[in-house]
Amino acid sequence: MSKEHINVYTEGSTGVIQLNRPKVANALNRKMVDEIVEQMEAFDRDETIRVIFIKGNEKAFAAGADIEEMMDDTPLSLEQLDPFAVWDRMMLIKKPIIAGVNGFALGGGFELVLHCDLIVAAEDAKFGFPEVNLGVMPGAGGTQLLTKAMGRAKALEWIWLGQPMGAQEALNYGVINRIAAPELVEEEALRLASQLSKQAPVSLRLIKEAVSEAVDTPLNEGLTLERKNFYLAFATQDQKEGMKAFTEKRRPSFKGV
Ligand code: HXC
Repeated sequence: MSKEHINVYTEGSTGVIQLNRPKVANALNRKMVDEIVEQMEAFDRDETIRVIFIKGNEKAFAAGADIEEMMDDTPLSLEQLDPFAVWDRMMLIKKPIIAGVNGFALGGGFELVLHCDLIVAAEDAKFGFPEVNLGVMPGAGGTQLLTKAMGRAKALEWIWLGQPMGAQEALNYGVINRIAAPELVEEEALRLASQLSKQAPVSLRLIKEAVSEAVDTPLNEGLTLERKNFYLAFATQDQKEGMKAFTEKRRPSFKGV
């Protein structure tokens, strides 16, 4: 199932994507981003998969966009290539995406992490936007996503200074969800995935859509969407099963319909 720049496999009902350009600290070339997104979409369509897990290796999640590939770009070549269109498709993935971060998540690597829903990081992981040091800036959503995650003042400080932040700091600012010892990151992420796999899949999807909406829309629009999705949840058999199981004092068995 693996492709040129990623390894792909499953762990139970979790679809795993491992970034695989270890010689360049998993720098993201465009082919690799295409492969990641295509695989996310394939897992999103696959009825046997409940959660998507993305990881790098023990030294690097990803050290950013591939600088060599990018260095001769011009405004016109970028406009014609439209390299961020594929990133927009990541926003449309409906299933939960968990990132497991060991080592560096820099530039486009950090942006990839910020496109995930839940982030588990090693206590010595490093997150940052060094683009300012290259005379550019984040381009795959970093200025928007980090600012929404941690607020304007701190995001501006980090992106301006281009220095990495540690996992504890990222946790304190609500940028990531959990910290683990480096060798336990994957275990913790898969445990989270397994917990999510037991939840009603349609509920998870509707919640993801509604929570994402809260980040982007005025409260009244977000509340309308939340209400619509709440009503929609009552169209599922899992809602009947979940509530019935509660009244019968047993564990529910969810089917995703
Ligand atoms: C291309 C990269 C790379 C990158 C590392 N390498 N990052 N190649 N693009 N982003 C290569 C190095 O050139 C080196 O190749 C090999 O990977 C190992 O890296 P080293 O620097 O030797 O390792 P180390 O000393 O451990 O330092 C690791 C590092 C450092 C801190 C991650 O490599 C680094 O600072 N990388 C650049 C990070 C960065 O600026 N990222 C932002 C990119 S711009 P050789 O051949 O020498 O062994 C960006 C824009 C996003 O992301 C736009 C949207 C997608």
